[in-house]
Amino acid sequence: MSDEDRAGPGGTTWWRDAVTYQVYPRSFADSDGNGFGDLPGVLGRLDHLVELGVDALWLSPFYRSPQVDAGYDVADYLDVDPLFGRLEDIDTLVAAAHQRGLRLIIDLVPNHTSDRHAWFEEALTAGPGSAARDRYVFRAGRGPGGNEPPNNWQSTFGGPAWTRVPDGQWYLHMFDPHQPDLNWESPVVRAEFAKILEFWLDRGVDGFRVDVAHGLVKNPDLPDWPADGAAPAKALDPAAAAPADARSDMNVLWERDDAPMWDQDGVHEIYREWREIVDGYQGGRILIAEAWVSPQERLARYVRPDEMHHAFNFDFLTAPWLPGQLRAVIDRTLEATGSVGAVATWVLSNHDVVRHTTRLAYPDPVMARAGGIGPGDPEPDVAAGLRRGRAATLLMLALPGAAYLYQGEELGLPEDTWLPDDARQDPVWERTGHKARGRDGCRVPLPWHADAPSYGFGPGPDSWLPQPEIWARYALSVQVGIAASTYEMYRAALALRRELRTGGEALEWLDTGDAEVLAFRVGELTVVTNFGASPVSIPAGLMPVVASASLDAGHLLDTDTTVWLREPAA
Ligand code: GLC
Repeated sequence: MSDEDRAGPGGTTWWRDAVTYQVYPRSFADSDGNGFGDLPGVLGRLDHLVELGVDALWLSPFYRSPQVDAGYDVADYLDVDPLFGRLEDIDTLVAAAHQRGLRLIIDLVPNHTSDRHAWFEEALTAGPGSAARDRYVFRAGRGPGGNEPPNNWQSTFGGPAWTRVPDGQWYLHMFDPHQPDLNWESPVVRAEFAKILEFWLDRGVDGFRVDVAHGLVKNPDLPDWPADGAAPAKALDPAAAAPADARSDMNVLWERDDAPMWDQDGVHEIYREWREIVDGYQGGRILIAEAWVSPQERLARYVRPDEMHHAFNFDFLTAPWLPGQLRAVIDRTLEATGSVGAVATWVLSNHDVVRHTTRLAYPDPVMARAGGIGPGDPEPDVAAGLRRGRAATLLMLALPGAAYLYQGEELGLPEDTWLPDDARQDPVWERTGHKARGRDGCRVPLPWHADAPSYGFGPGPDSWLPQPEIWARYALSVQVGIAASTYEMYRAALALRRELRTGGEALEWLDTGDAEVLAFRVGELTVVTNFGASPVSIPAGLMPVVASASLDAGHLLDTDTTVWLREPAA
């Protein structure tokens, strides 16, 4: 199938090598000084994305919501929460983005609603057996008096996945009790979401990042899982700080291929329907799967020609900083996506995981996960983490396909591992009885100015999570124009990637004769990463054009460094 066919009627294939920047609205830029970022704040900083050189932005949820899970608990899919602005602010943002040549992707949360959504409130009052209840997953309990939950499923955020309502029935919530799961067997739910998609496509958005895309359909028998009630095998990680059953460890739990609530074949029918909807619009509108699915061959099913366009590659995100393992993940990804004619979708950080500059500072990749890091945990080596983080970014941005960046990574921001426990907002912290610290450490508002109150996040000093003093070192204001800064490294890499269109090229590994060094060619670019302790020489005859750290004597690649090289101009 050609690119044009895949793009749909009148579409383009802009997304095949696009770099998309994730904006987490509450932490990006605050226009009114209440300590929460908002849509006018995003508008005011849109030029930052243009200068950085990305192709698109993805906005995490801005919908009406009680904000129990930072907006991933939606009470109205067709309106903007007053915390972030008004519906018109989206229209303004779409227009302003398009005017600047940026695409705008929004987050769609179809697995669950807020318990304050009108559908759920109606379901509660309408009672057992009602059509309103059929929008959700209500069941009778087990045991005497139905006092036990219908099965043994655990919520991803900790605790049982079922909550009982006063009339005795139980409802399913794979996340917080305030996030009841929708019943995707219901044609009513399907029809409602088709309308929601159209509502936003009509307003001009360029696509949807689909939250928990692997979770919508459950095995209809709702069987116990694990069947014997034991902790999931893969979650038994000896390096884990807390017992497996107490941790909120999305990645580990979601990796299981036999789980009756994840990656059921039935989800694909939904995405085929949605693909038809987005293809009905001009301009190349896209669907992106947030699917914590392994192995790559299963994940590739989400990006078959009549389904989604991108699926985040979490195997890559969670891979340890080891050349052999990284190369294997890259190969497997390219093979699996290639087999269905899709592109790879690379990502290192997002609002759910420990920032990669911090994650890579630890020898054990388990720190990637939602457990979080806080006071009392082993402290990362911030400088070493940044060095590796930058090397990992340059490696990623050279890979063929699409890439996603998370706000603040262009500043080299570390995870905020100093956040006081009493400031935590992620429901994971309470739901696990304070065993998992949760995801607040990667959600701390951004530093724009080293010397301003709230580091320029807002006009005043307020910020919904406290910002650590170290933020001053990472502020955009101290990085612009400084050649060695992380910001300028991202800018240089993105500019060259765009100029050479490397995202659309094929990758060819080069033999380095050294197990600690990875090298590949992609189009006109040669990329070398040194994972080893001793410096290595860059290949003769090539000229360094972007590097994650300075090269000793102009040609020596030190430990944890990536360099991009080109043929010298004739
Ligand atoms: C996704 C989101 C995460 C949210 C969860 C429940 O994983 O990325 O932030 O908590 O879904 O909606």
